[in-house]
Amino acid sequence: MASNWVGELIYEGKAKRVYRVNDELLIMEFKDEVTAFDGARKERAPGKGRLAAAQTVFLMRLLSKYGIRNHLVDWDGDRKILVRGLRMIPIEVIVRNYAYGSFLKRMPLVKPMTRFSKPLVEFHLKSDELHDPLITTDDIIEAGLTRQEQLNEIMGIALRINEILSNYMVSRGLTLVDFKLEFGFDKSGNLVLADEMSGDTMRILINGRHLDKELFRRGASA
Ligand code: ADP
Ligand code: CDP
Repeated sequence: MASNWVGELIYEGKAKRVYRVNDELLIMEFKDEVTAFDGARKERAPGKGRLAAAQTVFLMRLLSKYGIRNHLVDWDGDRKILVRGLRMIPIEVIVRNYAYGSFLKRMPLVKPMTRFSKPLVEFHLKSDELHDPLITTDDIIEAGLTRQEQLNEIMGIALRINEILSNYMVSRGLTLVDFKLEFGFDKSGNLVLADEMSGDTMRILINGRHLDKELFRRGASA
């Protein structure tokens, strides 16, 4: 489906192109490409952009129903979404329900897929060069990325999102292992959930099988 949205390309990342429509709005175009290892592995995957856009739209609309403020405005039914332009916080917020991925690399004492006693929330600096290093809340405050109250709010929203998504997944026979969120501020200084929510940014299992990008990370073809 085509849209009549028009914008000027301002950024091309690993997964999306970002176009500026006006002071308020951006278009995000999901690419038909799968990447892993900070972009070191990359393959064309026709249909993937639409799928990631559709998943993002579905999940952001679900979260809206629960009062989670997010950047989604509209969807063209294909690879593009219209979003509110935000001042992004350059942090990846990761919520984990089970031990997997980079958690196991830094904490090999825990067995893979152990369910945590409570969901873990962690922060990584967005930097491909540095491979998105794990950072502390003090690091974030000292670097002036957010204030403590805003960070507390981010943690609260991330845990609430985890509750909503975990319940939804369980009701569909799926297991939500972990996922990544990004946040930004709108012009009034409100914290807003941004970026995408898709198989690219979350690990979801069905009967122990992956419904996400993990297969590609392990070497399968797109
Ligand atoms: P990356 O930069 O990690 O390669 P993408 O290809 O997904 O990622 O590019 C999308 C970019 O848009 C990211 O830098 C992300 O932080 C940014 N972004 C996401 N949502 C918004 C928003 N609402 N306003 C401004 N920037 C956003
Ligand atoms: O993916 P990897 O094992 O390298 O890292 P992780 O820290 O275990 O990832 C936790 C979750 O965040 C997974 O669901 C990833 O898909 C997601 N993630 C992401 O979307 N973007 C990143 N740059 C890193 C992780």
